[in-house]
Formats: sequence, C-alpha cells, structure tokens
Amino acid sequence: MDFAELLRRYDAYVDTFKVDGALPPMMELKRIHTACVLANARAIAAGEGMDPETAEACEAAALLHDTGRYEQLRRYNTFRDSDSVDHAVFSHDIVREKGWLDGYPHAEAVLKAVLYHNRRELPEGLDALTAAASHCTRDADKLDIFRVLEHQLKVTDWRKDCTAFWSLPVAAKPNPQVLAAIRDGRPVDYQHIKALADFVLIQVGWIRSGLHFGTTRRLAAERGHMAFRRRFLAELTDGDPDVDALCRAAPLGELSLDDVEAALRRGCRALLFVRHAERPKIDGEDPTFGETLPLTDEGWRTCLRFGERMKEFAGDVQFLSSPLRRTRMTAEGIAEGMGLSGIAIPTDPLIGNSTFYFADQPTVFELFRDGQFFRHLFEYMANGRQRGFREINEASDMLEEWALSRFTARLGIFTTHDLHNAAYLHARGVKRDWTVESWVRFLDAAAIIIEPDGTRLYALVRTGFSNGTVGVRAN
Ligand SMILES: [Fe+2]
Repeated sequence: MDFAELLRRYDAYVDTFKVDGALPPMMELKRIHTACVLANARAIAAGEGMDPETAEACEAAALLHDTGRYEQLRRYNTFRDSDSVDHAVFSHDIVREKGWLDGYPHAEAVLKAVLYHNRRELPEGLDALTAAASHCTRDADKLDIFRVLEHQLKVTDWRKDCTAFWSLPVAAKPNPQVLAAIRDGRPVDYQHIKALADFVLIQVGWIRSGLHFGTTRRLAAERGHMAFRRRFLAELTDGDPDVDALCRAAPLGELSLDDVEAALRRGCRALLFVRHAERPKIDGEDPTFGETLPLTDEGWRTCLRFGERMKEFAGDVQFLSSPLRRTRMTAEGIAEGMGLSGIAIPTDPLIGNSTFYFADQPTVFELFRDGQFFRHLFEYMANGRQRGFREINEASDMLEEWALSRFTARLGIFTTHDLHNAAYLHARGVKRDWTVESWVRFLDAAAIIIEPDGTRLYALVRTGFSNGTVGVRAN
C-alpha cells in the first residue's frame, strides 16, 4: 500500500456518490476542501522539514480526514455534527472498516489523526508520529477553513442570508466571553457563539494561538487571513476597538533573514530586537552583567556580515542599543557592514540592565548569582512571575509600546540581550518551549513585523550567523 494506491481507493469511494456523473454540489465542496487540505499538509510538511515517513503519514491523514462527510450528507442531509454524527469518528470508522490502511505501517497514527482532527484539544501523551500527523491535519484543515469562509462571504449576500454561517444574527454584538477567551489564548466554547462576529472571531483565535506549526502561521500571514478578518469584523462591528485589537497581532513563528527581507520588500516594516554577537563568558560575580565586556573577534566579524547582508535597507534603517559595550559594538558592527560606519548609535537602558522585565535589578542579580541563569528564567516564563521580575505579559506590553513609539524607520535594529528576546517571544506566543539548545543565539532577533495595515506579526528570527548561545571563555 502506497500513497498513490490510497488516493485511488479514496477517489473510487467518492465516485460512488456521483449522480449522473457528478457529485452533488455540497459534496463537491468537500472534495475540493480535501484536495486543498492535502496541498496544505504537503506545504506544512515541507516547511517543517519533516522526514519522508512523517510527511507521508501527514498526507494520508489529510486525505482521509473528512471521508465521512459524503455519507453524513447522504444519510442526514446536513454537515452539522450536532444534528447527525461526529464526522471525525464517522470518517475514522469508514476508513477502518474498508481496510484502506491494512498493511500500511503507520495506519494507527493516521487513523488517530483522522479521529482527533475536530477535537478542541489533542489528548496528551501521543507518540511523535501521531502527534505530527494530528497537528498537521488540524493546521492544514484550519488553513482551508479560512479560505472557505472568505469565499463564502464573497459569493453570498450574507447580510440577507446567513445559512452558510449557522444562521447566526448578523447585527448582534460579539459575545464578551468569546472576546475574553481569544484575548487569553483559550479555546472558544462553541456554546458562546451567538453572533456572526463570534463565528469569525473563533478563526481570529485560531490565527493568534491555535496553529501548531510555524509554517502554518507563516502561510496564514502570507495569505492575508488575519487582514481579511480584521476588515470584515470592522465592517460587521462598526469598528469595535476591542475586536480590532484582537485582529491586530499574531505570532508567526521562526523566520530566516530571507523571510524578513521578503516582508520588507512587500511593504512591511520590521523592528528587530537583535541579541548582541558573541562575547566572552560573563563573570557570575559581576553585578553589571558584564557591562564592559567587548565582543570577541568572531562576534565582530559576524556583525559585519549581518550588516552586509542587510545593505539593501541602509537608506532607511534605525539603530538603538542597550548601553552595554557588547550591544553598542554589535550595532556599530552591523552599521559598518551596511556601509554606515561612524554613525551615532543612540542608547537606552530600557533595553539593557534597566529592562521592563526587571522589577528590581539587585534582586535579579542575587537570583542569577548561583549560576542557575536558565533555571530561573525558564521558571519565570513558565509562571509568568519570578522574584525580582515584573509580570511577563505586562513587561512585554510595556516594552512593545515603548519600542514602537520610538521606531520610525522601515528597518529597526535595536541591539539587546537574550533575556529580553526570549521573554518577549514567550509572552507573544511565538516560542514557549525554550531549552538551552534552542535558546536565542548570538545575533538572533525577536521581530515585530508591521504590515501596511498596521497588523503586528511576531517572530523569532534565526539569523544563522552564530550557533553560540552562552559565550566563550576568555583567556
Ligand atoms: Fe473535518
């Protein structure tokens, strides 16, 4: 059994629902949806660099995820699960009964991904393959649900006929419970959906915090799904500022410098909080966190290379640096690489040792003095609080508003420290599983990409100029 054979079986099954050589229109929509979900799953698997086995399981699950939709419509004349059957269970049972996956080595993972695809949350403790196939199917499905909603709103007169949207009232205000859930990144309880705005807001919640893979978030941004919802909801709610605030920001995931350049070229602005380049190791007894430590020679060279790489944007770039020597040198090196040597680099302690993240710097120093920097920081991120620190979301909001109020150019290079970058990206939902191995490397950046319509997208930019994380020992 290979994928081509599975595809043949699926198509032959769908053909049995044809009437006079064609699928009924509602079924045809599901056939198109499945083809799109399959294409999305392939894009996600490629973007995430999945191995061929995992990618194939993802494709199989995407192909089969809605198998039961045809029989559901024939038997019950509806796609509403609450009035008929749970279509994921139905799909799972049909595929199993028909034995399409018999002899396929990853049948169980694929079947589970089909079964779980419409659940609010995945069960815990899944094996890696099942988890990958499940996450991929759910992400690929959501991406296509975005497309379908946009298509339906374009082709129907939704103010007069809302049957495609559960016949929800068009003029009703959004439910505050839905707004609160989305603001806090919690799944929306479907019972709270009382208005067309709520229905659309569920998808805003998915874009903000319901997409698993960075590739999916990137695809959603490239396809303008948030921008569409923001415009539509503004029309629907008369520009409700609370609704608009939820549509104005979303985490993107990890980007490369190529991605940042592409965003700049298509008219976005980009503010990069760049971690300084390689430095010697910091003495744990130094309460200034190595204020006077310079970059290493290697660190300086990587700054020049970073600058050369971004030369195209030298005409509209803005620097701001933490006052420590290593961050100032980093900004100077990048500027020199861009052909701007000798320009004045302004500094501000709020992206240095007086960061918004510290409520009390001496207490933080005492905490880090035991050499357990990472343990204390991971604790801070897990709980949102830590001795000597300000609450993480509050500090991140303060940092963002402060930085954006200063950011006026097309490209901003604000040189700062790993603690700021990691805590900020954590608070923005970009990365929540930090380890020492995946930590912010030298010259990696936390980015705020600002779309032409003002939407803010958050990303971890892996610049790739250094693999170092903790610094080299000085000799
Ligand atoms: Fe489905």
